[in-house]
Amino acid sequence: MAKAVKSVFFCQECGYESGKWMGQCPSCHAWNSFVEEKIRPAVPGSRGVGGGAPGARRSGANVPRKLSEIEFREDERVSAGIGELDRVLGGGIVKGSLVLIGGDPGIGKSTLLLQMCRHLTADGQKILYISGEESLQQIKMRANRLGEGAGEMLLLCETDLDVIQGEIEKVKPSLVVIDSIQTMYSAELNSAPGSVTQVREATGVLLRIAKSEGIPVFIVGHVTKDGSVAGPRVLEHMVDTVLYFEGENHAAYRVLRAVKNRFGSTNEIGVFEMAGDGLREVGNPSEYMLSGKPEGASGAAVTCQVEGSRPILLEIQALVARTSFNIPRRTATGMDYNRVNLLIAVLEKRVGCDLSSHDVYVNIAGGIRIGEPSADLAVIMAVLSSYLDKEIGDRVMVFGEVGLSGEVRAVTHAAARVQEAKKLGFEKVVLPAANRKNIKEEGIELVFVKTVTDAARALRL
Ligand code: TYD
Ligand code: MG
Repeated sequence: MAKAVKSVFFCQECGYESGKWMGQCPSCHAWNSFVEEKIRPAVPGSRGVGGGAPGARRSGANVPRKLSEIEFREDERVSAGIGELDRVLGGGIVKGSLVLIGGDPGIGKSTLLLQMCRHLTADGQKILYISGEESLQQIKMRANRLGEGAGEMLLLCETDLDVIQGEIEKVKPSLVVIDSIQTMYSAELNSAPGSVTQVREATGVLLRIAKSEGIPVFIVGHVTKDGSVAGPRVLEHMVDTVLYFEGENHAAYRVLRAVKNRFGSTNEIGVFEMAGDGLREVGNPSEYMLSGKPEGASGAAVTCQVEGSRPILLEIQALVARTSFNIPRRTATGMDYNRVNLLIAVLEKRVGCDLSSHDVYVNIAGGIRIGEPSADLAVIMAVLSSYLDKEIGDRVMVFGEVGLSGEVRAVTHAAARVQEAKKLGFEKVVLPAANRKNIKEEGIELVFVKTVTDAARALRL
């Protein structure tokens, strides 16, 4: 059944390969460093990964089979030791999966993976962290910042794919991290590291390793602004899971988002906060976003944005001040500028509040970006509240899309938003009347509104 397995001896110190055991390595002169390893000769056709389980790669075993005959085995998952990461991965790390983590340089990809490796090492797993970007000292320095421990983790500074492949086969780790894919190169190709062919080739090699050895491989890919280095997009189709790490540079919080996941839903996000000692999980993002919200201030409205399937409460701040120019200023931070202008126009026309001699500043607290129209109503209410200098109660949440005639339109996930508000101790929610039929929440006051004017009345503005 199995092909003849060849024995090869390797120097553990320098990787020198020999057909027989030796007392001293002729390459690095280390004593007693040789260990025997079994090498399976290459199986014809093993370059493909469609065969599924490693055992199914034997020629002849790859015949079409009935779906009903295939026995189902729940993917073996290991916890990454970081709850938010597990959640985004769909419940843990799947054996033999290839995971790509993309994001802007400096967002915290290396930090996240190093933290994961530390947890896994503490669990007794053998981790190989391969960096082509930082020196061993730099990684050590970063690891020290993250805290003590994880001394058993294996680090390798290398960019040559052949060497990396050899090391993985030799070390037989239970998880591999490649930081970053853009620095890896294969000597067989003429193009420079970071080029599309190199990045694809490197991913192909890692894919084969992941599938044939059953080792999960995490790949870091930088999102690049200029086109000189291939971005993570060029390999999205090759990997099992694509996660993007996002966040504003000035804000401490970071969102990890699944864009593709063969082992779970892409509706999940993980929220982290960058602190002095690495990334901290934010188990309750709403609480985090609302921390520091001033009590009893005018111009603030709380709304709820759904990220993936996770509702997050946000504070929208508005400041309306008399202008000293001919043309009043409008600014929007964390939100589309044109959308804010449109909402101000709706407020002027439909509610009859004259802002032609007022500057309007709108800001989403916490550095988050609003990407859905459900925040419209809250923006209008915040502006109105600041204009009238009347506060919206602290325990009130507002959401709804606003149309051009001032009507409040239905939004998705209304029930989840109401639930989140209730969980955080809110007492009243102002929401679109069109959402009435799918909400049956008790213990919280629900005010269904049809127009912006209704909403203003409901908030006593
Ligand atoms: P890093 O993980 O190196 O980013 P990437 O690998 O995505 O390029 O993150 C680096 C940033 O994180 C850097 O600007 C410093 C900051 N940082 C902290 O604020 N606290 C920490 O404990 C660590 C390790 C990094
Ligand atoms: Mg890095």
